Formats: sequence, structure tokens, C-alpha cells
Amino acid sequence: MKMRAAVLEEFGQPLVVQEVELAEPRAGEVLVRLVACGVCHTDLYTASGADPSGYAPAVLGHEGAGVVERVGADVTSLAAGDHVVTLFSPQCGECVHCVDPRTNLCLAIREQQNKGFLPDGSTRISRGEGEIRHFMGCSTFAEYTVMPEIALAKIDPEAPFEHACLFACGLSTGLGAAINTAAVQAGSTCVVFGAGMVGLGAVAGCRLQGAERIVCVDLSPRRLELARGQGATDVIVGGESTVEAILEMTGGFGADYTFEATGNVAVMRQAVEAARMAWGLCTVAGVAGKGETLDVVPRLLITGRRVAGSSFGGVKGREGVPRLVERALAGEIDVEPFLSHRIILDEVNRGFELMEAQDGIRSVIEFR
Ligand SMILES: NC(=O)c1ccc[n+]([C@@H]2O[C@H](COP(=O)([O-])OP(=O)(O)OC[C@H]3O[C@@H](n4cnc5c(N)ncnc54)[C@H](O)[C@@H]3O)[C@@H](O)[C@H]2O)c1
Ligand SMILES: [Zn+2]
Ligand SMILES: [Zn+2]
Repeated sequence: MKMRAAVLEEFGQPLVVQEVELAEPRAGEVLVRLVACGVCHTDLYTASGADPSGYAPAVLGHEGAGVVERVGADVTSLAAGDHVVTLFSPQCGECVHCVDPRTNLCLAIREQQNKGFLPDGSTRISRGEGEIRHFMGCSTFAEYTVMPEIALAKIDPEAPFEHACLFACGLSTGLGAAINTAAVQAGSTCVVFGAGMVGLGAVAGCRLQGAERIVCVDLSPRRLELARGQGATDVIVGGESTVEAILEMTGGFGADYTFEATGNVAVMRQAVEAARMAWGLCTVAGVAGKGETLDVVPRLLITGRRVAGSSFGGVKGREGVPRLVERALAGEIDVEPFLSHRIILDEVNRGFELMEAQDGIRSVIEFR
């Protein structure tokens, strides 16, 4: 079938919205009609050419929500008409990681996905003779996509698509970092570094876990206001003396839980140093630049601080995303403030510009 999609033709150049060909879903695959899709830093990172593992031509986008149009052979858990959220981190339910409650890092399709192919090693997107690759297994800057069944989470049809798509990446990552990875205990003191989609999600997650005090640190006063709306009890404009400020606020001890959601290794270090002696847990969600390292004085660890990393908030997507969407529908998570701009597919490059200008939290493409 023919469809319109935003293609990364050349690194560092604007995406080109054009008509391309999409093949039918094969065994274990599903054809999804996109209704909404968030524009994320990871898309821009790849489009810019900064990501050394990037490839082109490819259809970018990985924060999609839509409706199942058709399913391929052997697909049993989804049917036409189902509402779904796309998962760059799938859940096969069978691999050694999927059956273990300690992790969400499904091993099923990583290798092919990282190369831009569906699990059978081929692509469904093409143009004339040339193939176009998939991005993060999703390629949701398009009217339709074909994805593996194991990479789609079926959600409540009551959920608005433009909210649901935010659970495909940053929001679930932040919420999950607090709920799954750190498993914040009620009554705790938490500090969240960064008030983008991920950090604000972590603030909301700490609130849902019953944290008593939630301090949010960011450089932008506007974003810190949003953090208050998600449950931050205190806000700090970040800088050199952030750790001292946090120690001062916590009787010299530091916080029970700290979260890093900036991607800056200097901030990661602050997040470790702001964690409490004896049991403070620092959860790192930010993605650092290639080759960068985290500098930690080992004594901080001997005296009881721990550091954990969190990918997609430890959320096992097919089970966890529908649950989070349900909590949003129940009014426990206020999603609307994250949705800053509604754009159309042809404006996808404007979505990148808004993001670079830090204008709002998320631009969402709506397909009509
Ligand atoms: N672990 C995962 O699975 C996963 C998923 C999605 C995104 N991420 C990563 O999480 C990070 C955050 O993503 P986002 O979409 O929220 O990004 P964002 O750019 O919207 O937010 C980052 C925030 O950090 C703030 N910041 C920058 N320097 C700071 C400092 N010195 N002190 C305090 N705050 C500072 C910025 O003002 C900004 O508000 C990125 O590194 C992203 O790549 C990780
Ligand atoms: Zn994303
Ligand atoms: Zn698996």
C-alpha cells in the first residue's frame, strides 16, 4: 500500500515527507494505522547524524499510538480495531529476561531491530527499487507501520491517542524509574534531576509511590513550574551548588532516592552525591554521549549509596504500558501538561525545532 512518511534521507538535513510503499504484515506482524506520535530527542539525535549507529534512508519516529488495521499469520493477541501503543522495547514473554521479574530488557529481536529490520531481517518500507529501514523497530512518523506483535501494547480504547503515545517512551521511562527500578517507599525524600518528559514522569512516579518530599532540579523555571504540577514539593534551579543545597534540605544526609534525567554526566555525579549515606539509591535514566563516563568517588558506595540504571523505566511494555495508561484514565497521572504542541506530519521538522528551542515538553503529530 501507499502511505505518507517522514524519511531521513541524509544526516543533518530536514526529514522529507513523501509517499512510500508499505508491504503487508508477515507472520507475527501487525499493520497499525497511526493516530498520534510524539517527537522525541532520540529521533533528532539520529536525524542529526550524532548517533554513530544511525542509518539512512529510514522512517524515524518511535512514540506512536494507533489502531490495528490488519494482522499477519500467527498473530493471536491482537485483532483489527485494537488500540495500541508502539514499543521500542518489546516483550516476547518467553526469553530468559522476559520470564524474570528483575528486568524488562527483552532479548528477542534486538539484533535485527538495531540494524533497522523487522525480526526476519527484511524491511516492509520501500520506494521504487530501494528499501527504506525501520527505526527503533517502530517508524511511526508515518500514516501506517508494520511492527512485530510483541512490540505492541494493547490499551484501553477510552484513552485519547495523543496522551497514549507519550507512554511509548519518556513518560513511562520516568514513571517506571520511580515505580519499578527504585520502587520508592512511601514517606521517602526524592530528588529528580531534569524536568523534561522523563524527569517529570519520575516526579509523578514518586508522588504515586507516596513520597513525602519530592525535590525537582532543572535549569528552566518554566519546567520547574510543571514539576510542581506533577507533585514536586520543592524546586531548585540547578548549578554548581545543587548537592550542597540538597544536603542542607535533608539534615546533611541526602535523599533516600535520586533520579537523573538529563543525560549530562556531571549531573549524574550530582545525583549520586545527593543520595543518602547508608541506603540512598541513585537511578540513572539519562543517556550520556558516546564515550562519556560517570565519575564517582568509591567511598560514596562503600558507605551505602547505590547506583542503578533504568531503561524504559524497567517497564515490561505489553503488561506495564496498559497499566500506566489505566492509571492516567483513572486521573492519577495528569498527562495533558506534557502535550505542548499538536502538529501534522508535514510539520515534523518544526517539531524538532520546537524541541531544540525547549519550547514545551512534547510536540505530538496527529494524523487525520
Ligand atoms: N532510559 C531510557 O529508557 C530513556 C528513555 C527516554 C529518554 N531517555 C533519556 O532521558 C534524558 C531526558 O530525556 P527528556 O526527554 O526528559 O529530555 P529533555 O531534554 O526534555 O529534559 C532534560 C532536562 O534536563 C535539564 N537539565 C540540563 N542540564 C541540567 C543541569 N545541569 N541540572 C539540572 N537540570 C538540567 C534541562 O533543562 C531539561 O529540562 C535524555 O538523556 C534522554 O535521552 C532515556
Ligand atoms: Zn523517545
Ligand atoms: Zn523477551
